[in-house]
Amino acid sequence: MRLLRSTAALAVALPFALGQTSTDCNPTQNSCPSDNGLNSGAFASDFTQGSGSNASWSAARGTTITYGSQGAEFIISQAGQAPTIQTDFYIFFGRIDVKMKAASGTGIVSSIVLESDDLDEIDWEFLGGNTAQVETNFFGKGNTTAYDRAIYYPVSTPQNDFHTYTVDWTSDRIEFIVDGTTVRTLAYTDPLTVGGTNYPQTPMRLKLGSWCGGCAGVAEGTVEWAGGNTTFEGAPYIMYVESVAIQNYNPAGSYEYGDLTGSWQSIKIPNSTSDSAPTSSQSVFGVSQSGAVVATTVTGASYSVNAASASAQNANGTMSTSFVSATTEVPGSSPSTGASTTRASATSSSGPSSQTGTSAASANNVLAAGSLLSVALGFFML
Ligand SMILES: *[C@@H]1O[C@H](CO)[C@@H](O)[C@H](O)[C@H]1NC(C)=O
Ligand SMILES: *[C@@H]1O[C@H](CO)[C@@H](O)[C@H](O)[C@H]1NC(C)=O
Ligand SMILES: *[C@@H]1O[C@H](CO)[C@@H](O)[C@H](O)[C@H]1NC(C)=O
Ligand SMILES: *[C@@H]1O[C@H](CO)[C@@H](O)[C@H](O)[C@H]1NC(C)=O
Ligand SMILES: *[C@@H]1O[C@H](CO)[C@@H](O)[C@H](O)[C@H]1NC(C)=O
Repeated sequence: MRLLRSTAALAVALPFALGQTSTDCNPTQNSCPSDNGLNSGAFASDFTQGSGSNASWSAARGTTITYGSQGAEFIISQAGQAPTIQTDFYIFFGRIDVKMKAASGTGIVSSIVLESDDLDEIDWEFLGGNTAQVETNFFGKGNTTAYDRAIYYPVSTPQNDFHTYTVDWTSDRIEFIVDGTTVRTLAYTDPLTVGGTNYPQTPMRLKLGSWCGGCAGVAEGTVEWAGGNTTFEGAPYIMYVESVAIQNYNPAGSYEYGDLTGSWQSIKIPNSTSDSAPTSSQSVFGVSQSGAVVATTVTGASYSVNAASASAQNANGTMSTSFVSATTEVPGSSPSTGASTTRASATSSSGPSSQTGTSAASANNVLAAGSLLSVALGFFML
């Protein structure tokens, strides 16, 4: 009950943004504008190259990222900060490699989140006080009725050392990979996906950010999950992202939801246009693009993280710089925040989860922190 009250406090403390823009549109409920696609097989950002490396990324309102020798710096020095950036484009099945160092600080959460407009979600999450593990999680269509999907894996001092965290995502399976070693494979047919309905399968954007899960106003259940109350004596707490490499297995200028099902088969990929010439890195692997959805499975693909490519490769040959207009989709929208609140309250009332693997958090306090990132984003999108 204490947790339920705290959840109510969370809802009050974080007034959610209710953006009415097109990107707030949930394609399983409404007919929505198509998503801007990455019209290239590969994209890379080397954030050690300065702010010029941030093309095709947008920062959440209130976010200022600095770019130093260790890459993009997501700095939390006081309560109320949740530095977050996201790609301006969506990918439709693909692979993301993020070389990063998580923020320290009890209760500080660092996140790598892939998220779609209909709230499919794939997460890596790091807790500042957990120096030995990283959490993986996923959601389909914002379904938060169960908390059995998070699994923690060992990783050595993610706050002190750079590691590369990868999601390799096809219509058949999702692989979570640390430094080239697959730690978790989630098959579409896994019972956790409930016949695929909870399997993430719609075009996603990549969001990177950190936020304070141990700050005042956050639900107690969330604080416990995040590792405890945050103090700022050790601040600033900085998450560093050195580089990001993205492969899009279905490069296209846009993606359309063909119906309200949110199934990957319903996603339409308009034919590529002549003004979107493939980049050289696209030839790393072949992608059929005949108007049909093709989930290419890449095996042993190698590509280089090209510092120049970040600015050279844009989803649409244009530079989107307006964060506010571009990020109306930041999940501060009502469906997302509603889901977040539901997750928190459901968690607080649920019994021990059947979470597998070892967890630093108590089993019944495992939260969908990707959704909590959404909460943080909602707060800062005001
Ligand atoms: C990228 O760098 C420019 C120039 O410093 C800055 O105005 C912009 O906010 C940055 N965007 C992100 C996502 O950090
Ligand atoms: C949500 O997921 C649960 C299992 O976690 C499943 O039992 C339920 O049917 C799902 N709900 C929908 C609407 O798919
Ligand atoms: C966080 O601080 C509050 C208020 O002091 C306290 O009631 C709560 O038990 C603390 N939570 C944790 C996980 O330490
Ligand atoms: C690409 O840019 C052109 C020109 O600005 C625009 O007309 C078109 O709608 C854009 N396509 C996508 C998919 O964003
Ligand atoms: C894509 O191209 C194919 C072959 O030219 C054509 O049959 C199909 O209608 C096109 N689809 C779209 C959405 O334009």
